[in-house]
Amino acid sequence: MDRNLGLDLVRVTEAAALACARWMGRGDKMAADQAAVTAMRGAFDQIDIKGTVVIGEGERDEAPMLYIGEPVGSGKGPEVDIALDPLECTNSVAYGRPNALSVIALAPRGHFLHAPDTYMEKIAVGPGAVKAIDLNRTEEENLESVAAAKGYQLEDLTVVVLDRPRHEDLIRRIRRTGARIHLIPDGDVSAAIATAIDSTGVDLLLGVGGAPEGVLAAAALRCLGGAFQGRLRFRNDEERSRAKTMGIADSDRVYRDTDLARGDHIVFATTGVTDGDLLHGVRFFAHGADTHSLVMRLQTGTVRTIRTHHRFDHAANP
Ligand code: FBP
Repeated sequence: MDRNLGLDLVRVTEAAALACARWMGRGDKMAADQAAVTAMRGAFDQIDIKGTVVIGEGERDEAPMLYIGEPVGSGKGPEVDIALDPLECTNSVAYGRPNALSVIALAPRGHFLHAPDTYMEKIAVGPGAVKAIDLNRTEEENLESVAAAKGYQLEDLTVVVLDRPRHEDLIRRIRRTGARIHLIPDGDVSAAIATAIDSTGVDLLLGVGGAPEGVLAAAALRCLGGAFQGRLRFRNDEERSRAKTMGIADSDRVYRDTDLARGDHIVFATTGVTDGDLLHGVRFFAHGADTHSLVMRLQTGTVRTIRTHHRFDHAANP
């Protein structure tokens, strides 16, 4: 893990983004996802790691590729765990909406929470408000303390919330505080990361989204010096007992970013598929395309923004 694997990983997220971006607006989320998965799976073989997917496309019997437990990489390098989402926001690609990303996080074996495929209540902030959040407090209290930590009036705070019926009460309560709300159709990984990047104008993510996405967001926020907390939210008893078999004993536990993505050796790469607060989506040209990616490494604190021009007419891309 001493080598910076970020630049290897970004080639994998770029490959996935390029493949699924072709499906933008075509109304077929399965085809978009499949394109990303196939491209990502192929690109992994070029990397010298002995990787195991711990957050992936699903269990072995439900996902043909990039399933949980699948070995990835050439098998020659360090032993690492991989959390991935070849296409985060399948609907956004299918219907030409914002915030779709291809995402990978990597850590030494055993350093990611094996999050069950359920929901998670989340709060995320950037470096300016790390000590100001606590999922055990009310949302109103969190908003007040984040505003105070950042030296804002509550009215100046921008909170991202997934636009879902389950968030009606949350939205009503945020509105009562006076804070601004940015409602998004999908994509709380992108939104969580955006809280740590000043130019996005996003201060906080609140609400319930996917638990696997929570692990990816926690890995990214650790690299950016932000903070993330999550509490699992089960939809039924079956999910609850499945989580128990995965070793999750306390279903009310608040997980901090350091519980979800542990240690100091985390590498994170993401490439935009459709335009969003965080990254531009893939732009196609005659004989090529541009991609926009972020690559981060916790060990050294580097955050790289990479714009890549890909030439489809080059001999290396048959
Ligand atoms: P997909 O890539 O699986 O479509 O996830 C998109 C997403 O919006 C996530 O960003 C978010 O965590 C989750 O879905 C929310 O779940 P739901 O759509 O069921 O509310």
